[in-house]
Amino acid sequence: MSIENDKLLERIEQLEKRNRELELLLASASVLSRTDLVQEEPFSVSLIQSLVLALDSRDPYTAGHSSRVALYSLWIARKLGMSEEECRQFHRAALMHDIGKIGVPDRVLLKEESLTDEEFQVMISHTTIGARILSKLEPESRMVQATEVAKYHHEKMDGSGYPEGLLGEAIPFFARIAAVADAFDAMTTDRPYAKGRSYADGVKEIIRCRGTHFDPVVVDAFEAVMRERLGREFDRYVMKHGDLV
Ligand SMILES: [Fe+2]
Repeated sequence: MSIENDKLLERIEQLEKRNRELELLLASASVLSRTDLVQEEPFSVSLIQSLVLALDSRDPYTAGHSSRVALYSLWIARKLGMSEEECRQFHRAALMHDIGKIGVPDRVLLKEESLTDEEFQVMISHTTIGARILSKLEPESRMVQATEVAKYHHEKMDGSGYPEGLLGEAIPFFARIAAVADAFDAMTTDRPYAKGRSYADGVKEIIRCRGTHFDPVVVDAFEAVMRERLGREFDRYVMKHGDLV
């Protein structure tokens, strides 16, 4: 009886997660389509959508990743008190953080087993390829943030990230925000070969890496916003495992 209950509970959790993923995609799309604050041509918005679609078409298993990362980034930026205009601009930049993966060959991008050293070097290059692509878009002055986010979203506070091994505050601030959003989505997304962590477990892992991998200020804002948005799931997690920290 209790095994059946556990299975049922697990199924409910899976459906809730799927439902939440769809809500996130919808919310992210609606942020992008609103141009009341962001002074941009419809052309820019459709260009961003096309670039993201091109990337999602390359790797269907991570389709939606860019949209969710952009939305989490927006939530964190709002929590940090940035203006709505800044947050919307940042949402657009974060949407394109992985755009350089367009230049990574399938044998590396779609590989299910762990990467060899040579393949990892190829994968790393998505940061610099992305920065190169975005730096070519006009107007140049408006692409600075997106270029930095694409280039530096895998840097770590302790200097062990890539592509440049930047240390602490040398990493552009918006890239530090996108790094948290990106890592959280990567670890909570289900793949055909591995089940993702629960959202609460993902937040716990981000907190564990506070200060080493991630900027403490960003982690605190992220934790606060996720506690607000994932209320029921957190309550269940805390009941089962104790609090997050
Ligand atoms: Fe990336």
